Amino acid sequence: MTQPASRRAFAAPSVRALLAQAGAFPLTLIAVWLLARAGVPARLPISWECVALIQGAFAALLAWGFRLAIWWRAIELVFPTGVLLARGFELPPGVFLVLFVLFLLIYWSTFRTQVPYYPSGRAARDAVAGVLPADRPLAIADVGSGLGGLVLDLARRRPDSQVDGIELAPLPWFVSRLRGKLSGSRARFLRADYETVNFGHYDVVFAYLSPAAMAGLWRKAESEMRPGSILLSYEFDIPGRMPDRRIVTTNSKKILFLWQF
Ligand SMILES: C[S@@+](CC[C@H](N)C(=O)[O-])C[C@H]1O[C@@H](n2cnc3c(N)ncnc32)[C@H](O)[C@@H]1O
Repeated sequence: MTQPASRRAFAAPSVRALLAQAGAFPLTLIAVWLLARAGVPARLPISWECVALIQGAFAALLAWGFRLAIWWRAIELVFPTGVLLARGFELPPGVFLVLFVLFLLIYWSTFRTQVPYYPSGRAARDAVAGVLPADRPLAIADVGSGLGGLVLDLARRRPDSQVDGIELAPLPWFVSRLRGKLSGSRARFLRADYETVNFGHYDVVFAYLSPAAMAGLWRKAESEMRPGSILLSYEFDIPGRMPDRRIVTTNSKKILFLWQF
């Protein structure tokens, strides 16, 4: 049975974090009003810094109530003070707008997917290239391809194969596409949610996502991938699904997990 939209939205930690700050606001107003009624400002002036601390403390408490991880609670606590400090720099409002748009274009749906951008690096690329079957051309996908480093590298190493990068966030996708064009690569970059892409079209699906995405990735792979095809996950295991191989990648010590269907 599918959950109602409000329930699914509340499952996203970023939505709960936002609700914690919003919920803390009226509580802060009430607390400051009660302090003023008790005559506290006469003895101890309630500064903006003090209000920010009260707001942060309420937000951290609500974050705890919403079962957010400890580092979210820490962010909730210091966020209002951070906003106050940022105001102190007296930067033009446009700077905040530009930063907001930039982060939006880079991180896009991270609040929902819980998979931000971070590159896998050379050790992962070497390990992936090392496990690809060498006896036939392959259709390979990197689901969540970021800036396209791994896709371009695999396309260079395997000119017999088709390598696709699937990326949801607009700016990383655009950069990867540009890199592909400038380097004359045969790799393809699709701007899409990998949830909408049929894994059955691929012999090898590579993922470098996050623990939050792994159960869903497995359900999709299990229902769509063909017999003989391979699912690879760098660093993140799938709970309860024993991999067929675990490859310790050179120098980074991170593991490449392999499941053969
Ligand atoms: C950890 S990065 C990995 C980048 C690249 N695969 C690599 O190995 O360097 C994960 C990427 O997945 C993207 N992503 C997250 N959820 C996605 C989804 N549902 N569909 C497509 N891309 C997604 C993020 O935007 C991010 O760029």
